[in-house]
Amino acid sequence: MNDSKDVPAENNSEEVDRRGFFSKIFMFVGLIGGYGAFGLTALRYLYPAKAAPKSWMFVSDLPSFNKGKSISYKSPSGQKITITRMSDEGKVEDFIALSSVCPHLGCQVHWEANNDRFFCPCHNGVFDAVGKPKEGPPAEANQELPKYKLMVEKNLLFIEVNEALI
Ligand code: FES
Repeated sequence: MNDSKDVPAENNSEEVDRRGFFSKIFMFVGLIGGYGAFGLTALRYLYPAKAAPKSWMFVSDLPSFNKGKSISYKSPSGQKITITRMSDEGKVEDFIALSSVCPHLGCQVHWEANNDRFFCPCHNGVFDAVGKPKEGPPAEANQELPKYKLMVEKNLLFIEVNEALI
């Protein structure tokens, strides 16, 4: 018979010592893992991650983007942007690129060409043509529409946006 009663007391205590040893190892590894995860989380708050990498994306050629025209642009990372041509000098200053997301609570704003303003239907927020708040909760909190950098090169318009996360 292979019963534990038949095992000499010396072997039985070796097995108990081995189990105790492994349980201490597992407990130690668990503690290291738990404190390590806590430490990494704390470090992320102390040293925030780097800003997302940005890149220049093609928007349009200048001749087909007429003065007064406004287009909706969605970046590869999902940023919703309204790009408007306000003058006809052929320079980057002709254009403005503003976030289409209301800084109040994140609703979609849209350009009203007849009123020369951006309007947020959620709480009647109003922004002027350069994204300054004029009415509603964004004006009370002085929340502008975020701007994006633009560049004109060889008669082509480009916008700087966050790269898509893979
Ligand atoms: S979400 Fe735009 S005004 Fe409230």
